Order: sequence, then C-alpha cells, then structure tokens
Amino acid sequence: MKLYYTHEKGPHMQIEVVADNAALGRAAAERILQTYADRELQVLGVATGGTPATTYRELTKRSEGRLSTLRLAALDEYVGLPADHPASYTTFVLEQIAKPLGIPAGQVGVPRAEAHDLVAAAASFEQQLRDNGGVDLQILGIGSNGHIGFNEPGSQADSRTRAVKLADRTRRDNARFFDSIDDVPREALTQGIGTILEARRILLLASGERKAAALAHAMEQAPSADCPASWLQRHPDVLVIADEAAASALSNRPEINTEA
Ligand code: F6R
Repeated sequence: MKLYYTHEKGPHMQIEVVADNAALGRAAAERILQTYADRELQVLGVATGGTPATTYRELTKRSEGRLSTLRLAALDEYVGLPADHPASYTTFVLEQIAKPLGIPAGQVGVPRAEAHDLVAAAASFEQQLRDNGGVDLQILGIGSNGHIGFNEPGSQADSRTRAVKLADRTRRDNARFFDSIDDVPREALTQGIGTILEARRILLLASGERKAAALAHAMEQAPSADCPASWLQRHPDVLVIADEAAASALSNRPEINTEA
C-alpha cells in the first residue's frame, strides 16, 4: 500500500515514505522500471551523490540489461576538476550508472565544466537536452540546505544551466568524497531550476535525518528561492520517496510503506 501526502495548504507533491535507504532504492528502481515498461522513458535525468547509490544498484539488478538504450543526462558537474577525476560527476555517472546498466558513453550527457567558456558550455548542454527531446524522468536528491542540482539558496524558478558558487554547507557536506575540504571545488556548472522543471516527471529522493528540515521546507512552505527544492511544487508530476528519517520533520506525517 502506498500512502500519499496531502498538505492543507494545497498544491502538493506526492510522497512515499519507506523505512530506510535500502527500501528507498527498491521503491525508486521500481518506479523507474515502471516508467520504462509504460514506454515513457528514453531520457533519464540522473542525480549523483550518496542518496541514489542504492537506487542505481537496484536498477542494475532488476533491469537485466533492458535499459541499455536509454540516454542519461546529468544534473551538474564541478568546475575545476578534470572530467576523469575520481570525484567528478562525469566519473560517477559513467562508472556507477552507465557502465552497470550497459549504456554506452556516447549516450551520456554531463555539463562540460572543464570548458574554458562556461557560458557556451551551459548553452550547448541545454541544446543537447532539447535535441534529445527533453528529460522524461528526472531523479533528484536534495541538499541539506534545500538545493537541487547545485541550485543553492537564492536560485530562482526561471534559472537555466549556469556556473554557480557552491555554498559552504554544500562544500562541507561533500567533503566526504574528497581527501579534504580544501579539495572540494568552489564552483559548479548546474542545470537551472527552470531547466529541471521542464522534465516530464520528477522523482525526488531524500534519505537521512540531515535532510529532514530541507524536505519539510520544500513540501510545506510557499515556494521560494530560500529553499530551491520548494520550486518543485510548481511541477505537475513529482513523487518524493523519502526514508523515515528524512520524513521526520513533516508536520503531516504519512505512514510508512512497509512493503517497499
Ligand atoms: C547531485 C546533485 C545534488 C545532490 C544533493 C544530495 O548530482 O545534484 O543536488 O543530489 O547534494 O546529495 P547526497 O545524496 O550525497 O546527500
């Protein structure tokens, strides 16, 4: 049984709450495979980071090679890291998503943050998204400060792919992927909020207590640049899959789906 969240202030995102990150991975993979089975998935937008790792593992296990024709579109990339750096998002998407799913590198698009001209790289990434017919299903994570992609607080609803400065909190949160915080880049090239909102469907994944306040803000307060994920309320088809810890600050607590 799936229980969906409704909030008295109305327009709302749907949410499914599951026990933990392992159950989140199973529920998200199932959702992605269902979209594919419905013939509504050709371009999958992929988040990187810690939260979706179980989702990609489950997807690999359950898809048995069926997804190899998909195109993948990444959300963002660090500026100042070579694309083949172990902590780059290009490496993440190729090694942790494309390769296990049998998707050739030629079907993978990541913003080219190594480019000398970041304005041109942003425009060409947006052009590539359009050329591929847009994103059918966008997987998102949420930052502890409410960011989606690397759209930090202050990001407006109509923002497009662009170079941004990373918030100190984001750099601290992501230091775990680097030898030290000094190695965490200070800038990134990210899809904008307006770019993300053009995806046909959105699947927002939230795991852990560290995300609880940001998720409650995103779902229960009026959309604003203070919490960029709150702009998702303007999208007509968003499903949030959260584990119990990430859902713990919601004022209208949905029951937990124990079958996921
Ligand atoms: C990653 C991305 C970010 C992350 C967010 C959560 O491509 O765009 O918005 O989704 O920072 O990261 P984790 O899952 O590592 O907590």
